[in-house]
Amino acid sequence: MKNKLLIGLCLICWLHSCRDKKSENIEIPVDRTLVETYKEKYRPQYHFTPEKMWMNDPNGLVYHQGIYHLFYQYYPDDIVWGPMHWGHAISKDMVHWEQKPIALYPDEHGLIFSGSAVVDLNNTSGLGSKENPPLVAIYTYHDMKGEKEGALDFQTQGIAYSLDNGESWVKYDKNPVILNEGIKDFRDPKVFWHEETEHWILVLVAGDYAQIYNSKNLKEWTLLSDFGKEVGAHGGVWECPDLFPLKIAETGEEKWVMIISINPGAPNGGSGTQYFIGDFDGTNFTSDQKAPKWLDWGTDNYAGVTYNNVPSGERIFIGWMSNWDYARNTPTEKWRSAMTLPRNLSLSKINGEYTLINYPLEGLASLKQSRIKKELNLAPQEKEVINFDNYNQAEVRFQTSGRYFDLTFSNASEEQLVFLFDQENEEFILDRTSSGQTSFKETFGDKLHKMPLENLPSGNIEVRILMDWSSVEIFINKGQKVMTSQIFPKDPYNVLTFTNLGAEGLSIMDIEISKIEAIW
Ligand code: FRU
Repeated sequence: MKNKLLIGLCLICWLHSCRDKKSENIEIPVDRTLVETYKEKYRPQYHFTPEKMWMNDPNGLVYHQGIYHLFYQYYPDDIVWGPMHWGHAISKDMVHWEQKPIALYPDEHGLIFSGSAVVDLNNTSGLGSKENPPLVAIYTYHDMKGEKEGALDFQTQGIAYSLDNGESWVKYDKNPVILNEGIKDFRDPKVFWHEETEHWILVLVAGDYAQIYNSKNLKEWTLLSDFGKEVGAHGGVWECPDLFPLKIAETGEEKWVMIISINPGAPNGGSGTQYFIGDFDGTNFTSDQKAPKWLDWGTDNYAGVTYNNVPSGERIFIGWMSNWDYARNTPTEKWRSAMTLPRNLSLSKINGEYTLINYPLEGLASLKQSRIKKELNLAPQEKEVINFDNYNQAEVRFQTSGRYFDLTFSNASEEQLVFLFDQENEEFILDRTSSGQTSFKETFGDKLHKMPLENLPSGNIEVRILMDWSSVEIFINKGQKVMTSQIFPKDPYNVLTFTNLGAEGLSIMDIEISKIEAIW
């Protein structure tokens, strides 16, 4: 009893002394950076960004046992590009993301550049078992020392595997699996299983064309063919290839699509993504197409590739929302850059032309809170304003048969982002020259970004705009024409002005303005 009393007394004294200390203003330090994570200026609220530091290309996009993996080029020590690792995040619904520890670290063969991942279902590699098939990542090794010494063969391809659905990774002990015979830019392997020939197919880029390999076991590779020396855009080095089949919904015809990022040489400057439509027989990819086609006409959708193994059969694409022209200079402080929304790719034949369509996955609707619904009927030259508290975390959607109008988002700081449908020149123009901060790099705000609008149907089309603090994605006619762009306004835009530029009345119908909830 005595003892209990003594303990009680001591406890009271200790509590008292604690209170005293507090009243002396001794505060437990609070880590502001942790408290404010995902609330920083310019931080996207419904796009994937790493919690901190530098990110570029999406890598190893693969679905396995209920999880969509997103690996990405990552430098954990700075917010500029540096020695590359594979960062890692996972999602169950392709809307919300969970950050995971770094998956792949540089090793004696070099830094870990871009690549892909597959589920080796039949354990062809022998790295797992039939009961527990391995996830195998195939990536580029970049040997800094070799590069500095002026060698040409400093990029090779290596593999790593995981037996616990991506939680931990082991590098293959006989890396590299593809050596380099002296091609300076030799990288970004995309691998997939080709059922017809029962082989793994690997596509990589070699300078400014693509090479195709096959393998029975993911370890030994045979060079089969190359593609693209004479066709498409060649204004820069080719990067991050992808190759996959798609069926045209209306006719059932199957075509193969090759995606190639190119830097520089994109239509609006710097980095961009072109595609080719053709056929693949297990050895050669062939295409009648000579001129480049662009997956996205904006300046900020690069190095995008698609998921392997998606159970629904959808072809899901994610790109890096930046451009090598200014990626290292954008005005964020804790992290740099974001991924595009995951987009479903589909193929259409429009006026005899194969066209790759890209449009956000349906799941995004779960974040939408519809706030304003209305219609506008504007006389020639008439303007109308729609106010909304924050267009920078919102979706604006409408239908129109008009082709000559502009819509301008603006804020109290007199910054404005302008979208112009220019009927005379049959083009769409994005003007971010006064959209906010632009001076961090000359190439960011120095010109108008243009997209031809040929082949649009003559009637109503849907225009869908998704803004997320420092990015905007515009989908015209459900993804037939797409532009993705970064923006850095001082304050959120809260005024949207529609102007009829034509000589006839303009109807903007089914306008729906929605807030998009944060995923973090
Ligand atoms: C594309 C790219 C890839 C390379 C990676 C390096 O943005 O240049 O070709 O593997 O980034 O981080």
